[in-house]
Order: sequence, then C-alpha cells, then structure tokens
Amino acid sequence: MAIKKIGILTSGGDSPGMNACVVSVARIANHYGMPLVGIKRGYNGLIEMNDHDIETFTESELLDIADLPGTYLRTARCKPFYDPEVRKQAAKNLNDNDFEALIVIGGDGSFNGAMLLADLGIPCVCIPGTIDNDLGYTEKTLGYDTAVNVSTNAVRSIRATSRSHDRPHIVQVMGRRSGDIALKTAMATGAELLIVPEREWSIEDTAERFINLIKRGNNRATLIIGEHCWHQMKPFDWISVLRENGIAVHDDEEMDVDKLAKVLKYLCKAEIRATTVGYTQRGATPSSSDCSFAFATAEEAVNLIRSGRSNVAIGQKHGSVYNLPIEDALNIRHKFNHASFELINKL
Ligand code: F6P
Repeated sequence: MAIKKIGILTSGGDSPGMNACVVSVARIANHYGMPLVGIKRGYNGLIEMNDHDIETFTESELLDIADLPGTYLRTARCKPFYDPEVRKQAAKNLNDNDFEALIVIGGDGSFNGAMLLADLGIPCVCIPGTIDNDLGYTEKTLGYDTAVNVSTNAVRSIRATSRSHDRPHIVQVMGRRSGDIALKTAMATGAELLIVPEREWSIEDTAERFINLIKRGNNRATLIIGEHCWHQMKPFDWISVLRENGIAVHDDEEMDVDKLAKVLKYLCKAEIRATTVGYTQRGATPSSSDCSFAFATAEEAVNLIRSGRSNVAIGQKHGSVYNLPIEDALNIRHKFNHASFELINKL
C-alpha cells in the first residue's frame, strides 16, 4: 500500500532507545518510499502543530541522533489530550497535514491516547517505550534494559565503598508502580534485601533482616528499594525513633529513603547510608539490547502500516516481536515475579 506520509512522536517519560527507534523507523520507511515526519513534544505537538512542532529529518540529522540518550523529538505528559474536543483537533491537524498514519512511542497513557485517536480514523501503531517495564503484554519495553544496567552499575560502585567501610546501604531505583527494575537489579547484583511497590513491607522486619545479616558477618548488605513503595509500608512510629535520636521531624512529614536509612541506622546500630539512582536511569546511553529492540519494533511498525493495519501495539512475546490490538494490550496486567522476590529476601 502506498503511504504518503507517516508521523512519529515520543510521549510520556523519555526512555533510552527512543531515538534509536525513531531513526530505525525513518530508515526503514525511507527504504519503502514512505517519508517520516517527527512531531515534537508528544501529543502537545499534535494539538498545536505549529511549524516548530514538525521535524522533517535529513539523513545527516538521523546519523547524529541515532545513539543519543533522551528523545530528540522531546516528550511530554499531555493532560489536555483527555479532552475529546482536543483529540478531534489533533485528528484534524493530522488529516489537514496529509499524515496517513501515526507511530507513538511511549507507555500506557500514550497508548490510550493512540487508541482514542485511532477511533477518530487515524491509523495508529504503538511501540512500548518506558523504563518501567510495566506493560503486561510485552516481555520488554524500550529503555528497561538500560535502566537496569545503570542501577546495576550504581549498586556495584556503592558496594565497593560499602565494602571498604563495612556499611550497609539502601539504593532506591525508579520504576513508578512497578518493582521490575528493583527486582532485576537485585538479581543482577546479589542484593540481600528487596522492597518493591507490589508488596507490603515493614520497617521492623527490614531492621531484623539487617541485624541478622550483620550477626552472620555481613555488615555491608544492600537493600534495593523501588520508588513508590511507601504506600505499602506497615504503620510504625518512625517519627519517635528519629526524635529520640535528636533529629527534628514534623508530625506530618512523609517517609523517604533518606529518613528510612536514618531510622534503620538507629534500630540496627549500623552506619546505614542511602543513594537514589533516579534520572540517571532515564537519561543513560541506550544498551545494545534496547537499540536492537528499537530496530525490531520499528521494522514491525513500518510493516504494519504498509499492510494497512491500525490500532495495534507492538511488543515482545517468547523472545519475538508480535502485535495485538492496543485495547487488548492495555487489558493484560503486568505480572510481577513474586517467587524471585521472596527468594531474594530469604537468602
Ligand atoms: O515512567 C518513567 C519514570 O521515570 C518513572 O520511573 C518515574 O516514577 C516517573 O517516570 C517520573 O516521572 P516525572 O519525571 O514526570 O516526574
């Protein structure tokens, strides 16, 4: 099928490999004689579609951005897109500018936007781009492998200094409501303790685990903690523990990883420290695994558009790229590996 013009945008949190994916789509689309046009700032660019929101790539530009972390097209979390009138305007802009298909690289919120746009007659194909690996229909999302490599390297560096000082350490990693980055990092580094947003946990149990490890001679254990695990923390009067040790805390203060390290320091009588890996995971140079996944999904996206398919999400199943309707993809809940989680915390 002869397609005149495809649009592509990145949406939601950026993830390593987004540029590699855009470049791969551009190269493959060009091979089939289909020009690819970048739309900047995620769905915001669709809504406004000013001249500066449209990027017609030159080959030299593509060569420059292929290996770059971040997303050259920029990205955004676009709340106005929830408004049906705003989506109608976006669809009109795409039609008025002769776009015949749209590729969206992003997470579940971005997929939702694409599904609603497809309902307005815009052929849409989605590629999973998020470090969180929280999309149930796919074994892999763009950026997850890189994010785990970054947190693994961070833990290795931290362990070197923990070993030198005989100090336990808490390392907080990203992942929103998904504990996958935390779990994979713990598996990769041999971390002794793990807390994830999927599981309830308590300060008392964690302190007891640290104390037992220290008794066994391990005074440099690592606790990996996924961000957004605080809602799963069992009630405990940690404010009194801090105050008894001379630390001023307001009654309405919320727990965070630095306070947790202090509370555990007093409960375990050990010099426990904390590090947050944070955005270094999102802005890292993409791994070869993420870049090759970017190529494989780009190839599938272009083939789907060439065969006239719309409203589809691309993912990986049993190691191979596959596709399914966006709605079906969004209905598959992400499964956390509870068995490995439990084993790590017993070792
Ligand atoms: O979804 C990717 C992610 O990095 C999450 O791991 C994190 O919770 C969130 O984005 C942070 O989003 P923002 O940068 O918009 O605050």
